[in-house]
Amino acid sequence: MDRRQEQQERPPETGARPRVVLGVSGGIAAYKACELVRRLKESGHEVRVVPTESALHFVGEATWAALSGQPAGTEVWETVHEVPHVRIGQQADLVVVAPATADLLAKAAHGLADDLLTNTLLTARCPVVFAPAMHTEMWEHPATRENVATLRRRGALVIEPDVGRLTGADTGKGRFPEPEAVFAFCRRVLARGAEGVRPDLAGRHVVVSAGGTREPLDPVRYLGNRSSGKQGYALARTAAARGARVTLVAANSELPAPAGVDVVPVGTALELRDAVTEASKGADAVVMAAAVADFRPAAYARGKIKKKDDDEPEPVALVRNPDVLAELSRERSGAGQLVVGFAAETDDVLANGRAKLARKGCDLLVVNEVGERKTFGTEESEAVVLGADGSETPVPFGPKERLADTLWDLVAERLPAASPSGS
Ligand code: CTP
Repeated sequence: MDRRQEQQERPPETGARPRVVLGVSGGIAAYKACELVRRLKESGHEVRVVPTESALHFVGEATWAALSGQPAGTEVWETVHEVPHVRIGQQADLVVVAPATADLLAKAAHGLADDLLTNTLLTARCPVVFAPAMHTEMWEHPATRENVATLRRRGALVIEPDVGRLTGADTGKGRFPEPEAVFAFCRRVLARGAEGVRPDLAGRHVVVSAGGTREPLDPVRYLGNRSSGKQGYALARTAAARGARVTLVAANSELPAPAGVDVVPVGTALELRDAVTEASKGADAVVMAAAVADFRPAAYARGKIKKKDDDEPEPVALVRNPDVLAELSRERSGAGQLVVGFAAETDDVLANGRAKLARKGCDLLVVNEVGERKTFGTEESEAVVLGADGSETPVPFGPKERLADTLWDLVAERLPAASPSGS
């Protein structure tokens, strides 16, 4: 590593560094948590790893201590004069348990405190994140479901595990998310400021569409658009960080699945409509951030369309796609369900936005001014959020996550009071 690289990767020396406690329980995914320690350290966090005894069967104490630069004991009986079973939790800015086994979730839900990690969980007053990893049967067992619901009800953020390859040959829900995704989730939670994360969407189910639809002409060609999906993914990430259960209907996006979000991949506008309609049954809010094609080719050629040298090109006949946003606004498949749309405008932004809000019948419309500087695929955006109640909320130029957070603030204010089920 050269000197410049070393300096870049070293955390800042000044000011208090956010203190993250990484609890590790005994699952094979413990090895993936090593990467999480590295990412947290490199981005300027102080990391204290608190493994359980069984976690040490997978990754030893020396590895945790070397990676974190701090002791990594499991017992409350070590360095007793420092009262670690109370101090570590009290001083943390974030506790993340990754991986969290079914056993650890059960202990946390019932307030057991028989080792350093479970004691730490009882003394922590900062946001607590669990990233479960286990076999599908264990994740789906009613005991685990109830424990997860209990933890969520109390304000803990439990990331939904991924679906995929588990230990051994089996596949299903229960896979530990990519460390990168857990890291991004932790950053989001920490970024919500000194007052900590507000799990104000806990117990809510939100549906977000993202990306751009593709309308096939033949097996190799399609009509599409340049939407990257970044805004929709930022919405999904931020909603998950605020405690919501999130279904992300993703049209042709290459972006990695955000941790704890159920991703439903789709291709065409009609597929997107089916997926969003299904997912939004009983949901608290639906946000249509996807760029949905207004038209699709009237006919689909089963074989590749061949050019004929002497002929003029055939015009492509188009037919209209359903307006999913207008349908959702009309039908409202949940009590008090909020529907949010997006609009891209070049001229008369506010007047056109107001007219579109009324036409579509949604509750909120995010109006983006598109032009030379403001193009698809960028990391930033600037918008005005118009409300059917006449409100107008400008969101200054900044990261898409800021727009996402402002939008969830506006949604949360408008949602009817809920009795969060937390499951
Ligand atoms: N939308 C939809 N179904 C469509 C087209 C669009 O649900 N068939 C949604 C988009 O997800 C977005 C909003 O409607 O939330 C955009 O509306 P649209 O009428 O397509 O606006 P523009 O793309 O800005 O197009 P125009 O100004 O040409 O009407």
